[in-house]
Amino acid sequence: ALLASSAALAADYPEKTITLVVPFSAGGPTDVVARILGQAMAKSLKQSIIVENALGAGGTLAAGRIARATPDGYTLLLHHNGMATSTTLYRKLAFNPMTDFEYIGQVADVPMVLMARKDLAANTLPELIAMIKSKKDAMTLGHAGLGAVSHQCGMLFLSAIGVPLTTVPYKGTAPALSDMLGGQIDLLCDQTTQTTSYIRTNRVKVYGATTKTRIPSLPALPTLAEQGMAGFEMYVWHGMYAPKGTPPAVVARIGTALREALNDPNVKARFAELGAEPVSDAKATPEGLRTHLKAEIDKWGPIYKKNGAFAD
Ligand code: MLT
Repeated sequence: ALLASSAALAADYPEKTITLVVPFSAGGPTDVVARILGQAMAKSLKQSIIVENALGAGGTLAAGRIARATPDGYTLLLHHNGMATSTTLYRKLAFNPMTDFEYIGQVADVPMVLMARKDLAANTLPELIAMIKSKKDAMTLGHAGLGAVSHQCGMLFLSAIGVPLTTVPYKGTAPALSDMLGGQIDLLCDQTTQTTSYIRTNRVKVYGATTKTRIPSLPALPTLAEQGMAGFEMYVWHGMYAPKGTPPAVVARIGTALREALNDPNVKARFAELGAEPVSDAKATPEGLRTHLKAEIDKWGPIYKKNGAFAD
């Protein structure tokens, strides 16, 4: 009876609007990816997809909520690296990334850039590092909470130069960037999905890319690694999740829509403009996401444990 009903559910899926939950602020990097994807997947599924921003605790509140949502394919989650790093950053998590979800697939990889407010006097990375070392706690770094990639990137940078700054948490990097534009904070490490237009129009100062190689859409921007920060490498990866127990046929249908969206020329063009790279069809699968998530938990767990960064 269970099989029959889940097969029936899958055959009719989707019959109503799907909600794609984003764990950070509207207008920010994760939201941008979700809206581009949601629009294209809606065409493929012939149903509307609404994006809902569920904020708080570095993305962990939203992930916990999706873990407990009805497993019917009408509530999905788009999350990033935080799904893996939160397992060591939080002592108590309301979800287990390895057991509480059905994996739809990986989505896209996005580079990050280290930026400052436009009127900060430092014009180059060495000048910035010298300034941070001399001003120390008089400077501020914004981020989107423990589990956010902006936090992870900021911490990697500050630990590389050996100076702990005062940090200012937000519920996403959209409000962090807006405060930086207003001069309330000095520094932010953020994704090109939000920052590209601000870089191109010179509204922020930018010091380097966090990726191993230069960002194809911003070829004049050197990497942090090539400016002396050897080994500095960080990029943002995204995964799409459904609650555990979502019928396999529904998971498969959503996966097909995901791969169709990633191969859509409009999506590809929009992503390319924003520096985002859609993953291959092989990675946009449950196994592709599961494997990567596990590898990321294994990679970052020991690093964070060593640094002793915990929230409750
Ligand atoms: C966002 O969408 O606001 C960001 O992905 C948050 C973050 O830095 O992780």
